[in-house]
Amino acid sequence: MAWIDLTAKVAVVTGGAAGIGRGIALGLAEAGATTVVLDRNEAGAAVAAEIRASGGRAEFVACDVTSDDSVTNAAAQVTARVGQPAILVNNAGTMLPGGLDTTSMADWERILSLNLTGYLRCARIFGEPMLARGAGALAHVASISASFPQSYSGAYSASKAAVVMLSRQLAVEWGPRGVRSNVVSPGMIRTPMTEAIYRTPGVDEARRALVPARRIGRPEDIADAVVFLASERASYITGEEIVVDGGFTRTLMGTIPRPGFEKN
Ligand code: NAI
Repeated sequence: MAWIDLTAKVAVVTGGAAGIGRGIALGLAEAGATTVVLDRNEAGAAVAAEIRASGGRAEFVACDVTSDDSVTNAAAQVTARVGQPAILVNNAGTMLPGGLDTTSMADWERILSLNLTGYLRCARIFGEPMLARGAGALAHVASISASFPQSYSGAYSASKAAVVMLSRQLAVEWGPRGVRSNVVSPGMIRTPMTEAIYRTPGVDEARRALVPARRIGRPEDIADAVVFLASERASYITGEEIVVDGGFTRTLMGTIPRPGFEKN
């Protein structure tokens, strides 16, 4: 038997059409889950088709996670097509540039409404049948910027820090009702969201040099952690955060000049 087996489970991934969400959808499907790619971008249909082409079970459901009606309709469609989900991965998120003195209040609200409120909305709507059945697993994609301020990125860091606390609160409130809630915090991952940054000459090399693993992360790196947390192998883990950053956020002490203690 496989160490992780999600056969017979229905998993929903928000923002599954691209980047990290796509990687998570492929990972869950590979572990046997019937995977629902939820995205406002119709490109999600191609991800579901890709999973089916390699022998997995997948559906695409168009959905805007910032809308109550859209998520409620999507949940009804999921149940009608493949049954009630046992796993929800909150991943749909984005960022906008802007310092805290200049970012517009509209941009601030826009980021919080997608990156934070969208996560709670999906947790409530997809979590309802989990709570009714007394079993379920939530995994939320936050960021290393939840713990370290990402400057000139408006509400991004605040939204991610709030996701970590939202997950802990869900873990405490829903744990006694059989639902676990955990966070995966990616470091630097190359995706459509960050592609323009990596295309800028010199950035890829400069970033790699900062990471102990000496490479930029891939969506599969995040998917592996999410699949574990969603599985029964993590049945006693809730309210936790797994940082998947190749060691980047552990490098602070190594940046201090310390004569006599250099690498030889
Ligand atoms: P991406 O921009 O490549 O993909 C995001 C997906 O979410 C897209 O398919 C998009 O259509 C979908 N989406 C956006 N708004 C939506 C809405 N209102 N309703 C439904 N779907 C919507 O982004 P990426 O890089 O894959 O990021 C995924 C998550 O990982 C985000 O929460 C991001 O903050 C987080 N993250 C990304 C890192 C990176 O280096 N790429 C690092 C740390 C965290």
